[in-house]
Amino acid sequence: MTNADSFDARKRAAAQAAAHLVGPGMAVGLGHGSTAVAVVPFLAARAGRGELAGTAFVPAARYMAQALRAAGLPVACLDDFPRLALAIDGADEIAPNLDCIKGGGGALLYEKIVAQAAERFVLVADDGKCSPALGTRHALPVEVTPFALAPTVDFLAAIGGAPTLRRRPDGDPMRTQRGNCICDCAFGPLADPAGLAALLDARAGVAGHGLFVGLAQAAFIAGPDGVQELS
Ligand code: 5RP
Repeated sequence: MTNADSFDARKRAAAQAAAHLVGPGMAVGLGHGSTAVAVVPFLAARAGRGELAGTAFVPAARYMAQALRAAGLPVACLDDFPRLALAIDGADEIAPNLDCIKGGGGALLYEKIVAQAAERFVLVADDGKCSPALGTRHALPVEVTPFALAPTVDFLAAIGGAPTLRRRPDGDPMRTQRGNCICDCAFGPLADPAGLAALLDARAGVAGHGLFVGLAQAAFIAGPDGVQELS
């Protein structure tokens, strides 16, 4: 088995464990990224066995919506279900207290909206995402309103973020579903993720950021010895 195979197998194992949390009649949010999408086939299998009657899924990203539709699962939106029983999502970096950095796939704003709408927010990841301190392994994505890009880049640099504008392969700035830009910020290990989140939340021009503080209640982390549930 190659390393890629084993990482994919770990993602699938974490996804399978989380799929068992979904029950009939629930409204369930699903985020974005390869691990979150790996939950879909397990949900489809359960739906095929008649275990998910009346369950509806609220995707945080177009790609997830496509995956759900392709699997024949019902897709809804937050107007239909403003309160979700559960949301499941991947992460880029997870701290021991389950705070995390998200947004590697650029869907951070909608992912956070879905996570905040959920009574229970659960992470799925391979053990390579675990970190002693957020910011050690992954830059922090900050979503920026294009009108405010130049002053916000200056602001992010002034608070130590060393921002890099995320670009598409053709060199143009990458745009999110809302048409915003993303600055990936290399703050380094964060001593106070909640303080930084508050600072970013207070700044006009910052449309969202990938610090998910105090949101996740549990995580399914898959490693070489199986899946561990952290809470
Ligand atoms: C997308 C995300 C993803 O959840 C995160 O990037 C993890 O992706 P993957 O499961 O593919 O490693 O935050 O915005």
